[in-house]
Amino acid sequence: MSKLKIAVQKSGRLHNDSMKILKGIGISIDNGKDQLKASARNFPIEVFYLRNGDIPQYLRDGVVDAAIIGENVLIEKGNDITIVEKLGFSKCRVSIAIPKSSKYKAFSDLSGKRIATSYPNTVKQYFKKNGINLNLHIINGSVEIAPNIGLADAICDIVSSGSTLFKNNLKEVEVLFRSEAVLASSPFINDEKQQILDKIKFRFQSVLKGRQSKYILLNAPNDKLQDIINILPGMKSPTVLPLAKKGWSSVHSVLNKNEFWDIIDELKLNGAQGILVCPIEKLVI
Ligand code: PRP
Repeated sequence: MSKLKIAVQKSGRLHNDSMKILKGIGISIDNGKDQLKASARNFPIEVFYLRNGDIPQYLRDGVVDAAIIGENVLIEKGNDITIVEKLGFSKCRVSIAIPKSSKYKAFSDLSGKRIATSYPNTVKQYFKKNGINLNLHIINGSVEIAPNIGLADAICDIVSSGSTLFKNNLKEVEVLFRSEAVLASSPFINDEKQQILDKIKFRFQSVLKGRQSKYILLNAPNDKLQDIINILPGMKSPTVLPLAKKGWSSVHSVLNKNEFWDIIDELKLNGAQGILVCPIEKLVI
């Protein structure tokens, strides 16, 4: 049986979380990232550790069948590559920043200003779309230093925590787009490998749904049971089991973590007691 070749970032902000999500779907990788490639003991894949910026071309050429990569890299270098699934980690923004002391009212203020970036295609497209003149300076690293050394008036780079901008006395003035890690596939993937990729996608979805959800158990007096059941969304409907104590039931359900606190408050108001909330490792619907 042939193996799916999947690229992950060799080093950098996506590497650890990429390996963690592969482990989370039960794929055990044999070798470390000192090797160019590693195989899995229990799943038909080979992992290729590659430089971030090279991955779109490897996908395009069919050298690898799939990749875990930042959307920002695909937007810059691989607009033609298919995104199979968003993975919810390594979230960042691709933004324009200017010195804190500079005045800024509107995007048109950047017309003709020198913009330093390692995202030239992204910046060109954004300026063109907005009909603004661009004076581009392409540099490959330490972009945030450019305004301080007089090389540029503004920069375009990824912003995550914002601490690099802060340290360099810059302020974020335009968000070009938001990015996160994604699973992407090569246009040349064959049917057999597509089936392996579909399995990986399904397992990723189970992990992601699990991360989005919480398992909740609570005790409810039977006379309040219906009110409490009405509050809980549940998957089909909540599980209700009798407690040893007469007149009480145990209610089990699954909540979306974004609605979680609002629902807990309502449950308490409606007489729920002993509320227990647990993480969910995987959720298959
Ligand atoms: C990126 C980016 C910024 C920094 C922003 O660099 O180029 O310098 O992260 O992150 P922050 O908002 O959390 O400070 P990264 O460390 O990923 O390495 P790179 O220079 O190779 O892109």
